[in-house]
Amino acid sequence: METSLLKKVPIFSQLNEDEFEKIRMLCVSKKYAKDRIILIEEDPGNSMFLIQKGRVKVSRMSDDGREVILSILESGGFFGEMSLLDGKARSASVTALEDSQVLILRRGDFLKLMEDHPQIAIGLLKELAARIRRSDTQIKSLSLQDAMGRVSSTLIMLAEDHGKIKEKTVMIPRIPLQQDLANMSGTSRETISRVFKYLEDEKLIIRDGRKVVIPDYKKFRRMFS
Ligand code: CMP
Repeated sequence: METSLLKKVPIFSQLNEDEFEKIRMLCVSKKYAKDRIILIEEDPGNSMFLIQKGRVKVSRMSDDGREVILSILESGGFFGEMSLLDGKARSASVTALEDSQVLILRRGDFLKLMEDHPQIAIGLLKELAARIRRSDTQIKSLSLQDAMGRVSSTLIMLAEDHGKIKEKTVMIPRIPLQQDLANMSGTSRETISRVFKYLEDEKLIIRDGRKVVIPDYKKFRRMFS
C-alpha cells in the first residue's frame, strides 16, 4: 500500500512522510465491488474507513422501507468515525456505488493518532462541521413542498460536493442514478425524470450521459436556494 494514497485524505494533509508511514502500518486495505454493503445501520462498530478509490453512499431506511440517502462520499473522504467516537451502533449503512478501495483503521489506533497529532482531530472536526451544514441544508430542502425545489437543492448539494467549477459553469462529472437521486431528494424516479426534463428544456442544465453541466451556476443557486 502506498503512502501517496493516504495523502489524498484531507484530515491527514498536515502530516509528514514519517507520520504517513506510521499510519500506513496501522491500516488494512480492503476492496469492495460495486453494490457491496460496507457497513450496516445499527451494527456495532469499531473501525473507521478512509476511501482511497471509488464512491460510496451513506443511507438509512425509513420506517416504511424507503431508502434515504444522506450523502455520497468519494476518494479522500472517510466514514465510520461516529461509532468510533461515541461507542454507539452505526448511524447509517454505507454501500459501494462503484468498485471501491478503503483503508480500515481500528478504534484504538485512530484515537491514539488523534492524541499524538491534534491536527488530525481538528481536520476531523472541520469535516464534521461541514457535514452538519450539509445536513441542515438537506433538512431545509426536504421540508420544501414542491419537487422542483427539492430536486434542484439536491443538484446544488452535488455541485458543492463533487462539482468542477469553470468560470460561471459547474460540471458534475457523474450524476447518481435516477433512483439514488430520488432517494436523496425525498421524491420518486418519475419526478426526477420530469424535473430534469423541465430544467433541460429551460436550458438551466445540460445533460451528457452521466455528466450534468449547470451553465450559469450563480443564477441556478439564486433560483433554487
Ligand atoms: P458510523 O455511525 O460509525 O457509521 C455510519 C457512518 O455514516 C457514520 O459513522 C458516518 O461516517 C457516516 N454518516 C452518517 N451520517 C452522515 C451524514 N449526514 N453525512 C455524511 N456521512 C454520514
